[in-house]
Amino acid sequence: MGGTATAHALSVERAESLSDADLADLCEATDAAIIAGGGFGWVEPQGREVLSRHFRGVLLVPERELFLARLDGVVVGSAQLLRPPRNNEAQAFSATLAHVYLAPYARGHGLARLLVQRVEERAAALGHRVLNLDVRATQKDAIALFEGLGYIRWGTHPAYARVKGQTVAGQFYYKPLDTARGRPMGDILGGAEGA
Ligand SMILES: CC(C)(COP(=O)(O)OP(=O)(O)OC[C@H]1O[C@@H](n2cnc3c(N)ncnc32)[C@H](O)[C@@H]1OP(=O)(O)O)[C@@H](O)C(=O)NCCC(=O)NCCS
Repeated sequence: MGGTATAHALSVERAESLSDADLADLCEATDAAIIAGGGFGWVEPQGREVLSRHFRGVLLVPERELFLARLDGVVVGSAQLLRPPRNNEAQAFSATLAHVYLAPYARGHGLARLLVQRVEERAAALGHRVLNLDVRATQKDAIALFEGLGYIRWGTHPAYARVKGQTVAGQFYYKPLDTARGRPMGDILGGAEGA
C-alpha cells in the first residue's frame, strides 16, 4: 500500500440508529465485501432483506456496538465492538473487535485504519484495557492492517472456519489499550503469568 494520502473525506461514527439510506448503503457495501472474499463471517452474499434484519438486530444487542465507515459521506463498511456480558466479571477488562470490512470500492484510502482506531478509542474510553480479535489466516490485507496497528499474534487455530468446502486456519490477536487511568499494561500483562 504505502501512503494513504487521499482527497476523499473519511469518517467513522458509532451508530445508535440507522436511516433507511444508510442501511441500504451498508447492506450494499456488506454484500460487495462478501463477494470480494468476505473474511468477517458471511461467505455468501445475503441480500438487502437479510442484512437489514441483521444490522437492526445488532443495534438491539446491549453488548454490541456498531461503527460505520463513510467515504465522502456514504456508508461503505463497518466494524463491531463486542463487550463481555455483565456476568463475565473476570473478563470485563477486555473486549473484542469483530467484523471489520470495507466494500472493495472504498479500500486503500486509510479508512480501515481510522475505523479500527475509532473502535480502539471507544473501547479504551469504556475502560477496556485489551482488545482481542481473530481473523481467517487467508485475509492477508486485514492481517497487514492489524499487525500494522500493533496487534500481537498469540495463537493459530488450525480449524477456525469452513469456507467453500475448505477448512481455514484462524489467527488470534490482542492489543493492550492505553487508558488515562489505571496501572500500566506492562504491569498487568506481567502479573498475568501463572495466574
Ligand atoms: C482489511 C480491509 C478492511 C482494509 O481496508 P483498506 O481501506 O484498504 O485499509 P487502509 O487503506 O486503511 O490500510 C491500512 C493498512 O492496512 C494494510 N493493508 C490494507 N490493504 C492492504 C493490501 N492490499 N496490501 C497490503 N497491506 C494492506 C496496510 O498496512 C495499510 O497501511 P499502509 O497504507 O500505510 O500500507 C479490507 O481489505 C477488507 O475489508 N478486507 C476484507 C474483510 C476482512 O478480511 N476483514 C477481517 C475480518 S475481522
